[in-house]
Amino acid sequence: MKCFYPFKDKSKNKKGSNSAPEPRNLNKLDNSALNRTTRSLPSPRSIPELYKEKEQNLRVFSLQELREATNGFNRMLKIGEGGFGSVYKGTIRPADGRGEPLVVAIKRLNQHGLQGHKEWLAEVQFLGVVNHPNLVKLLGYCCTDDERGIQRLLVYEYMANRSLEDHLFNRARSTLPWLRRLDIILGAAEGLAYLHEGLEIQVIYRDFKTSNVLLDGNFKPKLSDFGLAREGPRGDHTHVSTAVVGTYGYAAPEYVETGHLKAQSDIWSFGVVLYEILTGRRVLERNRPTVEQKLLDWVKQFPADGKRFSMIIDPRLRNQYSISAARRIAKLADSCLKKNSEERPTMNQVVECLKLAIRESEEANTSNKIPVASSSNLADRRSKRV
Ligand SMILES: Nc1ncnc2c1ncn2[C@@H]1O[C@H](COP(=O)(O)OP(=O)(O)OP(=O)(O)O)[C@@H](O)[C@H]1O
Ligand SMILES: [Mg+2]
Repeated sequence: MKCFYPFKDKSKNKKGSNSAPEPRNLNKLDNSALNRTTRSLPSPRSIPELYKEKEQNLRVFSLQELREATNGFNRMLKIGEGGFGSVYKGTIRPADGRGEPLVVAIKRLNQHGLQGHKEWLAEVQFLGVVNHPNLVKLLGYCCTDDERGIQRLLVYEYMANRSLEDHLFNRARSTLPWLRRLDIILGAAEGLAYLHEGLEIQVIYRDFKTSNVLLDGNFKPKLSDFGLAREGPRGDHTHVSTAVVGTYGYAAPEYVETGHLKAQSDIWSFGVVLYEILTGRRVLERNRPTVEQKLLDWVKQFPADGKRFSMIIDPRLRNQYSISAARRIAKLADSCLKKNSEERPTMNQVVECLKLAIRESEEANTSNKIPVASSSNLADRRSKRV
């Protein structure tokens, strides 16, 4: 799915190519993009302020180290490509130089320009501050000039199972079982709830979509891509005013119309992904008959309480799901997709509702209606619940 970041268009980014900072001087840069709200209040602290306290936790890599880590950015090691650049699988030495080499994912900015740099900086600062099991871990970065211009790279923990997008829509992959889908979306919801309500300052993620939900070796989900994240409104402010960026199909309508960003914009995107999980369809599929192309329009014909509701459920699930839990999730999605953003639930409410849907599915599971999903995290969580 293509983004509509105006600044992801290479041709528009001619400025700023000489603005490479010294790696440890990130905090001296102009952080106005991250500080949309008033600075006059003494607290809470801004992300750049919080970052200053934690920056030593990030490793600073030289370009040469990352070249070696990826065998010269070898095409064979390329594992993904997004609006920001290419992602490679690589191997680095542990920070203390001892022990086994570490497998990592290395993202390399492929456009030179102020906006690309801002996105990179936002990612370093937000990920340098946050700490949650459902947010991807940033290990370090590289920020340097070389003969071909500025170089901006990010080094993350490697997520062996790629993204939720991959497993939900790639027909070459085996079907993602029902309980695993719910477990993944619950983890993603917990990550978003932490951003909205679990930090000193509210963080609006702004780019919630299946390709940004990465999966580790145990299918544990982690949100990635903080390049578009913003601090939420402070004090009496109801929203943050920004340029409209994000991904077509996922952005809340009021945000697209006004540029007024609130945490509720993320909730809308979450509702879109809930329907993608239920149906196994993308928010926009141009190869379908016209009435089925826009997912949110199509599902309206099959209300959660209606007799025909089950017709929207991903046929690859082959009835291996709990219909009552599916109805609950469709209702939750509908509430996330309320036109009036104030009527949408909070992420903590979403988390609670998803836990109920999982419990409901597990009960159906014990009466042998759904095969047991075998991931270790599912098994772990179930045993804790008992
Ligand atoms: N830490 C990681 N571990 C393993 N794979 C990763 C990691 N980060 C990214 N990837 C892979 O690289 C792909 C591209 O990621 P990237 O964030 O650059 O773009 P995107 O999310 O697909 O699109 P966009 O730029 O519009 O957000 C991901 O979908 C994922 O498959
Ligand atoms: Mg991404």
